Amino acid sequence: VGSLKEADLKGKRVFVRVDLNVPLDDNFNITDDTRIRAAVPTIKYLMQHGSHVILASHLGRPKGVTPKYSLKPLVPRLSELLGLEVKMADDCIGPEVEKLVAEIPEGGVLLLENVRFYKEEEKNEPEFAKKLASLADLYVNDAFGTAHRAHASTEGVAKYLKPAVAGFLMQKELDYLVGAVSNPQKPFAAIVGGSKVSSKIGVIESLLEKVNVLLLGGGMIFTFYKAQGYSVGSSLVEEDKLDLATSLIEKAKAKGVSLLLPADVVIADKFSADANSKIVPASEIPDGWMGLDIGPDAIKSFGEALDTTKTIIWNGPMGVFEFENFAAGTEAIAKKLAELSGKGVTTIIGGGDSVAAVEKVGLADKMSHISTGGGASLELLEGKQLPGVLALDDA
Ligand code: 3PG
Repeated sequence: VGSLKEADLKGKRVFVRVDLNVPLDDNFNITDDTRIRAAVPTIKYLMQHGSHVILASHLGRPKGVTPKYSLKPLVPRLSELLGLEVKMADDCIGPEVEKLVAEIPEGGVLLLENVRFYKEEEKNEPEFAKKLASLADLYVNDAFGTAHRAHASTEGVAKYLKPAVAGFLMQKELDYLVGAVSNPQKPFAAIVGGSKVSSKIGVIESLLEKVNVLLLGGGMIFTFYKAQGYSVGSSLVEEDKLDLATSLIEKAKAKGVSLLLPADVVIADKFSADANSKIVPASEIPDGWMGLDIGPDAIKSFGEALDTTKTIIWNGPMGVFEFENFAAGTEAIAKKLAELSGKGVTTIIGGGDSVAAVEKVGLADKMSHISTGGGASLELLEGKQLPGVLALDDA
């Protein structure tokens, strides 16, 4: 079997690893259900094809059985989205679970309890993976957000449960983050932001091999500016990455990549939502002030650079968008991408904070693709292979 579409599903027990690691507030209300909604197409497909569906996920990073990290609060929303009453098990392995699995009707869905209640999950212990595997006739991995983890339910189980295939969400994420990025319609632009260069080195280096245009924003730009001899005030700088910043700029030049740093920045007199702020050229940040967003000239020149592109990938915010006064740069980029999407440009939002930013301005449904993976999408963009994908038959 090469893919889910080719698999024989009728009457089969299917173990589906999903990533239902959603944020919950103190009252266990789901504050963002994106990942649950993203898991629905595969589950519905299995329901409609007469499978007995077993769902497994982690939630948070519990140390042992921790009620706070139970998946129970997710059942109502999941049931609502699937249009059927999802049953919930108190565990993810063992006789009680086996009994519940045997009772799943055709087209029915059972949600197992958090797989990370067992330390064997993250240790990827074969005995535990075998117990998970023994519950079903085939394995579907749709947990893109966790595919960079070699855990029992994401990697180990695929060794003992065949066929082992990708779900539709996994497939879609790979199509965009691998397909569109390795074989993009050109000109191809990347926008990389976020606070630290150190966490984006791999992404920048890998993208420099592929893009025509690279726009940099976020806190990381001050390391680049300092490397160029600008005064950066009290902006965030990674002193040990100055040489690296210089070498990335040189590498871009050598590759003929047009690398743009913001010409102006919004600065603040403290790191706070109610800080005083002003706009200055990037080379003129006074002592005691720090850059927290890109400025209007930068927004304009970034927009112009993007206007002529056919594919854009964005990872990392342009500023501290959690503070209203420093959100303009990130929001302007989100709006620009939405506008270009409408004109046929492929726009890919590669996980984490930039996804939150796009959602905050209500433009999520305007993009070609919004990744459900933070760490996983970052690793893919770095050119790494994901263990959860490699373990599948159709890898
Ligand atoms: C995520 O939220 O990035 C995934 O669900 C993986 O979670 P983890 O970082 O705790 O492994």
